[in-house]
Amino acid sequence: MANFKEKLDIVEGVRFVDENNLRGSRVLMRVDFNVPIDEAGQILDDRRIRAVLPTINYLLDEKCQVVLLSHMGRPKGKRVPRLSLGIVAKRLSRLLEKDVLFVEDCIGEKVKLAVRTKADVILCENVRFYPGETENSEEFAREIFNSVEADIYVNDAFAVSHRKHASLYALALLFPVEKRFAGILMKKELLAIQRILLNPKKPFVAIVGGAKVSDKIGALKNLLSLVDKLIIGGAMAFTFLVAMGIKVGNSLVEKEFIDVAKEIIDEANRKGIKLYLPVDCVIARDINSNDIKVVPVYEIPDGYAAFDIGPATITLFSEALADARTIVWNGPMGVFEKEQFAKGSYSIVSVLANSTAYTLVGGGDTDVVITKMGEQHRISYISTGGGAFIEILEGKELPGITALRA
Ligand code: 3PG
Repeated sequence: MANFKEKLDIVEGVRFVDENNLRGSRVLMRVDFNVPIDEAGQILDDRRIRAVLPTINYLLDEKCQVVLLSHMGRPKGKRVPRLSLGIVAKRLSRLLEKDVLFVEDCIGEKVKLAVRTKADVILCENVRFYPGETENSEEFAREIFNSVEADIYVNDAFAVSHRKHASLYALALLFPVEKRFAGILMKKELLAIQRILLNPKKPFVAIVGGAKVSDKIGALKNLLSLVDKLIIGGAMAFTFLVAMGIKVGNSLVEKEFIDVAKEIIDEANRKGIKLYLPVDCVIARDINSNDIKVVPVYEIPDGYAAFDIGPATITLFSEALADARTIVWNGPMGVFEKEQFAKGSYSIVSVLANSTAYTLVGGGDTDVVITKMGEQHRISYISTGGGAFIEILEGKELPGITALRA
């Protein structure tokens, strides 16, 4: 695993669409339109669609024909009507204020015909309807390549670039390296991340929350090589408290990760990094209960579990963030979906929104808390990535970005 301090500039060797002359090209562009859909098939959140509008509009201004590829959900290589991108084509058309030609396939005759219509914007059907996508099949990539016959390849799908899948990897490699580009969204994502990985302004504080330590070990370990303070909230904090010998009632604890939590505590101590854990919490008998109490973390009775950080912890964390000049946040402080357990996460949003630090947020529903409070414009950058954001915090190379490099 690469250490942040040893890492080269992550933007090194990547060409960007807006820094090159692509005029009049046919562009095959991978986007991430994996948006949440409700039972009635309606889009619940279109931020990932809006996020790529700058790249599409830029290419249209450059008189390019734009052929879009995306996945949606995990259809496991089969056609699943509920995961069709048809609904996304309609929303994209509304947002662009322009026709979008939807093709019910991503390879073959239908695609060839669509491309020949000279439609400016074409959206192909879910690439994951074919097993070759997740298998990174070169044969499948070649079928896409031959169907579209594009001049250049663009990856503007940061949020799925941690997957070594055909439309992100094998397909990119079929284009000469000088014909592979990153889109404008990808550029924003990489520059935001670079800003915290390379010479971040100090003090640098990371806030990590969410349910499971197991999902965040790599990120936590890597952050220890970079930050001055590490704040741990959410249910994962209780595994750390157990590692410190505190009884936490019925709170969620990953027993098999108690030793890892100990290692992280020891390493933070060795490195002189201040580690902040909850000192009090909001407890209830179960997640649906409105009968809540605030108690110190060492006084959680049996039969009760913690679902949010308490007021003393909010003060502690807010004070730890007060002098920060760089803040990265991943993962909520509690079960914010329930109003009675949302205060901790809301308070962190307010602190970040009012901070003069560079604030970068990504992954694990953290963006959802911020939008719920309407504070998205007061955060320096909110990543569209979930898993991809975590993997980059872990110091991993993302295959989708590697494939763009010389
Ligand atoms: C995401 O929503 O994080 C990306 O679209 C990746 O989706 P996946 O986890 O199904 O690969």
